[in-house]
Amino acid sequence: MLIKSKPYRTIWSHPDDSTITQIIDQRKLPHEFIIVDLATVAYFCTAIKDMYVRGAGLIGATAGFAMYTAALQSRDAHFAEDIQQFARELSATRPTAKNLVWAIERQLTAMAACSSVQEKRDKGLEVATAIADEDALFCKQIGEHGVALIKEISKRKNGQPVNILTHCNAGWLAFVDYGSATAPIYQANNDGIAVHVWVDETRPWLQGARLTAWELKEEGIPHTLIADNTGGHLMQHGMVDLVIVGTDRTTFTGDVANKIGTYLKALAAYDNNVPFYVALPSSTFDWQIEDGVKDIPIEKRDGDEINKITGRAENGEMITVLVPPENTESANYSFDVTPARLVTGLITERGIVAANQDAILNLYPEKR
Ligand code: MRU
Repeated sequence: MLIKSKPYRTIWSHPDDSTITQIIDQRKLPHEFIIVDLATVAYFCTAIKDMYVRGAGLIGATAGFAMYTAALQSRDAHFAEDIQQFARELSATRPTAKNLVWAIERQLTAMAACSSVQEKRDKGLEVATAIADEDALFCKQIGEHGVALIKEISKRKNGQPVNILTHCNAGWLAFVDYGSATAPIYQANNDGIAVHVWVDETRPWLQGARLTAWELKEEGIPHTLIADNTGGHLMQHGMVDLVIVGTDRTTFTGDVANKIGTYLKALAAYDNNVPFYVALPSSTFDWQIEDGVKDIPIEKRDGDEINKITGRAENGEMITVLVPPENTESANYSFDVTPARLVTGLITERGIVAANQDAILNLYPEKR
């Protein structure tokens, strides 16, 4: 996607040295654009845990490159033992995002099929690149399928802007390119369909205010930032035509784990007959967990993310301020689960499908 008219992905190999992976430090956006070099597994772990990179697909792609680095760092004589240890360290960084373990396991399986250590290392780079390319391709295909929903509403409204509400950032910054929830929106914009996006600010980390608002601005998509609690009111007054969100893990039965607050949006959408769609590449499906509410692990993050806010002061300096009384105890649940019954449909790289086991397994018969 474009940043100041220049095309970027969110992760790539250093053009002069493939042992270095480059990322955009999302903690600094939208006010500073900083590229960071990652060349050790420890730094990859920090980058994932502390959210230099975040979002389902990008966490997976970063884990893919981290496993290549792990192969480079593993000792020749103790390769099997070292690579497993690195895999464990990486897996522990973010518990909810399925793409993390999916990418690590894909790398371990591919490396296990190689005989020499050098072959395993070469394979590591090949698979990391394939994961990133596939993520971008799948998101593009999500856009191509999802745009039909927007087109239909636009027709019904005689070309008046289609109002789409989204939560968190399931944009290109959360993937390698295009995004999941945003891909149909970008596709609609390319097709000349008028759209307007309601952007939930997404407390506490403010992915909506900081990232979604920024990437929509860079892409020239009309949008309005709203406080998280506004969606229900807008839906009651016919100001939302469609909700599209992303997901960090979706069960094969259609339960959707996504950024905290998504469940409340789904309830409001259900009560107001607003279609509620979830966009995801198949790498985000969990083919083992049946009951998402009961069994998807929910990440709890540091309370400081709630108690403190960082932003740019009028003098241009980045500052962090404390909001509640000092030492206030806060509970920072990072995700919630929306049960399948509240989800109108899933937009995947293979097409749009109902959020239930039969429909999902019909679309992915190889997972039966
Ligand atoms: O904690 P984050 O920022 O990694 O959360 C992930 C998200 O960006 C959202 O939950 C998103 O809607 C799904 S990931 C594409």
